[in-house]
Amino acid sequence: MSRFRVLISTSSFAAADRLPLARLEDEGAEVALNPHGRVLTEDEVATLVADCDGLIAGTEPLTERVLSGAPKLRVISRVGVGIERVDLTAAERRGIKVFITPDALTDAVAELTLGAMIALLRRLPQMNAAMHEGVWEKQMGRLLRGRTVGIVGLGRIGKALAKLLAPFGVRRVARDAEPDRPWAAGNDVQLMSLRELLPVAEVLSVHASGAECLIGPEELALLPEGAIVLNPARGGLVDESALYDGLVSGRLAGCYLDTFEREPYDGPLRGHPNALLTPHAGSYAREARVRMELQAVDNLLGVLRDGRA
Ligand code: DGY
Repeated sequence: MSRFRVLISTSSFAAADRLPLARLEDEGAEVALNPHGRVLTEDEVATLVADCDGLIAGTEPLTERVLSGAPKLRVISRVGVGIERVDLTAAERRGIKVFITPDALTDAVAELTLGAMIALLRRLPQMNAAMHEGVWEKQMGRLLRGRTVGIVGLGRIGKALAKLLAPFGVRRVARDAEPDRPWAAGNDVQLMSLRELLPVAEVLSVHASGAECLIGPEELALLPEGAIVLNPARGGLVDESALYDGLVSGRLAGCYLDTFEREPYDGPLRGHPNALLTPHAGSYAREARVRMELQAVDNLLGVLRDGRA
């Protein structure tokens, strides 16, 4: 007989390595997987989690309604760091423990962001698309070296990106609601208010948490002409339609989005050649995924097997 029942709602669990799933099964867990291959809706997760003791969670909405319909649930263990879709008050009221995997995806997202930055500056998406259409055309790009990069959100990922950028000889400026001043001073990153940062940020990279829009039409209008904007953090932190307008008018030279207001994304940026888009795959580097999944399993077992309070 199984010792506990666990729903795994992330759509690609154990895709990189079977070890995290095997670890759960070895502990006698009865495991139900996400049958839809995408982020679950509130109704779907409510149905699937109803009789579970534990949830290995993705980014689906874990609302009061979902939690109140799962009376046995003792732990929500996120594969990832964002918890803005978890009703933490409702979880606490029910004694449900909530965990994240704080460091496991940092390098994966920071490296991807650096890659996207260089790709946009050197017009890789545009030249790649042209080559696939049979068009041999050299397009003039720009160097990263010598640019000013504005980092909004100087947490784990923002700091990792700042470090990756150091050898490129860029000026690194950053804004954070509660900045780590000693770290910034020790790493030659200049802290500023958003109002001060935007007019100098030729490259703007957003690494904040939460769901509130930080970069709307007014903020985009303050960026230098030809700026590029990257948001691999959370959908909605940058206003997608304002971004689209900025690309269409030519004020912005490019954007990179990995996260969207609604996922899967099917909005107008798909049709713009200067928008580089990926499907919320920031953490999808094999090593990072395996680390995240193993940590999530250990966090879950800490409660269900070891009775961690
Ligand atoms: C996170 O950590 O929340 C990422 O978006 C992956 O789910």
